[in-house]
Amino acid sequence: MNYLEAINFGNKILKSSNIETYKLDNELLLAKATNCTREELLINLQKKIDRVKFKKYLKLLIRRKKNEPIAYIFKTKEFWKNKFYVNKNVLIPRPETEIIVDEVLKITNGNSSKNFLDVGTGSGCIILSIIKERPNCYGTAIDISKKALKIASINAKMHHLENKISFVNIDIDKFNLNKYDYVVSNPPYINKFELNRLGKNVKLFEPNEALEAGIDGLSEIKKLILKSKKLLKINGKLIFEIGIKQLKFIMIFLNKNGFYTDKICKDIYSNPRVIIATKVL
Ligand SMILES: C[S@@+](CC[C@H](N)C(=O)[O-])C[C@H]1O[C@@H](n2cnc3c(N)ncnc32)[C@H](O)[C@@H]1O
Repeated sequence: MNYLEAINFGNKILKSSNIETYKLDNELLLAKATNCTREELLINLQKKIDRVKFKKYLKLLIRRKKNEPIAYIFKTKEFWKNKFYVNKNVLIPRPETEIIVDEVLKITNGNSSKNFLDVGTGSGCIILSIIKERPNCYGTAIDISKKALKIASINAKMHHLENKISFVNIDIDKFNLNKYDYVVSNPPYINKFELNRLGKNVKLFEPNEALEAGIDGLSEIKKLILKSKKLLKINGKLIFEIGIKQLKFIMIFLNKNGFYTDKICKDIYSNPRVIIATKVL
């Protein structure tokens, strides 16, 4: 079998399982199995694939056919300007979360020496991306999941930032250490009912504690705001991601708890997804 025949074979398998991105995914899997880049694969379509590599390709195809996300199969995901190690214990970093990093970089400068807290760090993608760009800043990253923190620590080492960030395995409710200039967070914000409507790749593979936030999807965001009120310095900022339909409630809740909303940032679909708020009281 040559690469072209293998591609046609894989396309059929993934398409029949309703994998929307079947063409791209299939080519990436074949490239991985044959140890080449997707580009090299596509200019060598007549090249024969040997038995061992084909077997490897089949194994990868079966995993994707069962809806396992590509990021977990490859154990890596790009976020902001860097690659992060990921596995099933952490949420796969999403492009909309990059808005948090972008906004933090806009309101700080290269020489800033600020103290950050990242709540629900997961893979560490937010705090590590920020500290990499703001080398005089330092941070604390907390997560309720021990397994997630292990991944975040691996990523910190990979990016040579392990001395800049302390990792703490704790529920935000119980964390009371220090005062911060900035709290950043992408908390869980999906309600129980929406969770059932998510794609199989998310529902079956990504960690539930990274997604679900009670009946209304707001339980973790409320905790985050209440705790940030205690942990932020006066005029400190809370920068966090929200679900698509949560803006109205959250703005009222912020206001009631002594925060002024500075900015609401939208994603590429024009949905409000990141809030920047200042602790004024
Ligand atoms: C949506 S994920 C975000 C992960 C990562 N920051 C990102 O943006 O890709 C939320 C994270 O919060 C953690 N988490 C959930 N509830 C928590 C709590 N009460 N206290 C601390 N961390 C919590 C989860 O384990 C998960 O890693």
